[in-house]
Amino acid sequence: MAVRSRVLGTGMCVPDLIMTNDDLTRIVDTSDEWIVSRTGMKERHRVRPDQAASDLAIPASRQALEEAGLGAGDLDAIIVATITPDTIFPSTSCILQDKLGARHITAFDVSAGCTGAIYALALADMMIRAGDARHVLIVGVEVLTKITNWTDRSTCVLFGDAAGAMVVGPCDDGRHGMLSYYLASDGAAGNTLFMPAGGSRLPASHETVDQRLHCLYMKGNELFRPAVKMMSDSCILLAERAGLTLADIDMYVFHQANLRIIEAVGKRLEIPREKVFVNIHKYANTSTATTILAVHEARREGLIGSGSIVSQVAFGAGLTWGGVLWRW
Ligand code: ACO
Repeated sequence: MAVRSRVLGTGMCVPDLIMTNDDLTRIVDTSDEWIVSRTGMKERHRVRPDQAASDLAIPASRQALEEAGLGAGDLDAIIVATITPDTIFPSTSCILQDKLGARHITAFDVSAGCTGAIYALALADMMIRAGDARHVLIVGVEVLTKITNWTDRSTCVLFGDAAGAMVVGPCDDGRHGMLSYYLASDGAAGNTLFMPAGGSRLPASHETVDQRLHCLYMKGNELFRPAVKMMSDSCILLAERAGLTLADIDMYVFHQANLRIIEAVGKRLEIPREKVFVNIHKYANTSTATTILAVHEARREGLIGSGSIVSQVAFGAGLTWGGVLWRW
């Protein structure tokens, strides 16, 4: 059995179409100034009408597998974290298993809001340490523009589409890999961020479509403060569980939901600005994909290298929150 899991490869995919803040001013009553000053977002990517989550997940997965030096046939499990699956069932992970040409392996989706990829990574770590799997593909993928209410300016400016992938495998050197994880939830606040219809509580009907109840609904200002607390607490717990201090962390990768939330967490924990990775201006909030995209780009920019200690932390619908701490 492996001592720990570690990341063997990362990948990402965003659709070609870019929507700028100015593009949004032609859809709703908003401005570039409002969006940048309140969120830090400048543009986001959007899928074509015929594209679904798995269409972004496949190229991201192939890129991660290539860096890991593995083929789809080497995978023992696929876990897809998403709130915008291709279909409610079967799972997007099964669609991915088939399209990648993987063996008849374990494949399932995780629904944990924007924290989904963190939940998936912790699950992969458990499977690898238990000896049940050697190579696990994790994907955080979202096509949020498909569940956006384009008449609601308070939400439609916030989201984008993307997939991030990580291939995780065993690590026995006792030094590198996942140092700790932390997962939490609070269902009592679930009505601050949810999709009202389309499940068994309110199945699709003409009325639910007319009332746009198949779109994302969010009380954004009620989430702001809890988000700062949940991500701050997660950072502290992750470091404590690994026997480290916050100052030992080389790079913080937070869920990219709002630049002001990211900055507030940094301020609260007294983290130097250069230790906080930000790419929200390019992609907006891509939910489960954000932290994987950020880790992938931070690696490409040389900000995360061998030996770097990285705190990857998120929060989201559920509510859910948590993180994983790596020595790269
Ligand atoms: N353009 C112009 N004005 C706007 C826009 C817009 N796009 N959206 C809202 N406004 C207006 C409102 O109507 C309101 O006007 P009023 O004062 O005349 O009533 C004013 O701006 C202030 O609205 P607030 O909602 O209070 O604005 P706030 O500063 O809180 O920013 C935001 C809103 C960006 C949504 C912020 O609350 C936020 O980021 N919250 C957290 C969201 C989040 O992190 N969600 C969880 C993750 S997402 C996931 O899991 C999928």
